[in-house]
Amino acid sequence: MDDSSDRWSDVDDYIVDHLIGDDPVGAACLAANEAAGLPAIDVSVAQGRMLRILAQSSRAQRILEIGTLGGYSAICLAQALPAGGKLVTLELDPAYAEVARSNIEQAGLSERVDILVGDAGASLAAMEGPPFDLVFVDADKQGYAAYLEHAIRLSRPGTLIIFDNVVREGEVLDPDSADPKVPGTRALYEAISHNEKVDATAIQTVGAKKWDGFLMAVVK
Ligand code: SAH
Ligand code: DHB
Ligand code: MG
Repeated sequence: MDDSSDRWSDVDDYIVDHLIGDDPVGAACLAANEAAGLPAIDVSVAQGRMLRILAQSSRAQRILEIGTLGGYSAICLAQALPAGGKLVTLELDPAYAEVARSNIEQAGLSERVDILVGDAGASLAAMEGPPFDLVFVDADKQGYAAYLEHAIRLSRPGTLIIFDNVVREGEVLDPDSADPKVPGTRALYEAISHNEKVDATAIQTVGAKKWDGFLMAVVK
């Protein structure tokens, strides 16, 4: 298992070398996160570029992110916004949010990004206004089913809703998993299986972040 996961990471390096190259802005963010002692649970470089491409190709002007950490995925997504576009990102931990604020400023994206500090459930409950074009959900997995409902409420037909970490090395199959994050993820699958407002799939991934996956839903 270790061998294949090393190889997944080596292939990610190859992908980044060939398709992304040097990214001083992203690298500075990840270095600042490490210096601040944040957990290295940001999306990978290749995944961050995928998020940016999805935002770009859907011409997203309003993006919602749930789970900011140090702002790495927020920067990737905000880079796809046109002038006047907006990314709203929600973070529980004020210290993480401060690291993100600094990283986003260093990236020159402060005008396009609003960070709302506090429990995402509470921030979402108070949120209304024009619909989001793309939603990236990457906070506490226990909240995933509730975040789906909020994301749909704040969407329009065609909005893309993406959830991170929906496979967790296959743990998602285990209803008795010792990992407390698994039941929340399973509740998301269960909720979507009964939800007629979205079409959805999930794609398993391997790479620098090992074996995991993204669930993608489009609002009908
Ligand atoms: N999207 C980030 C990684 C997010 S890690 C990136 O790829 O760069 C998950 C984040 O969700 C953590 O920073 C954690 O503090 C935050 N979080 C956990 N529970 C939360 C909640 N209830 N409300 C808002 N944020 C929460
Ligand atoms: C964890 C959270 C994430 O969003 C992630 O991508 C990886 C790990 C975690 O809480 O362990
Ligand atoms: Mg994640």
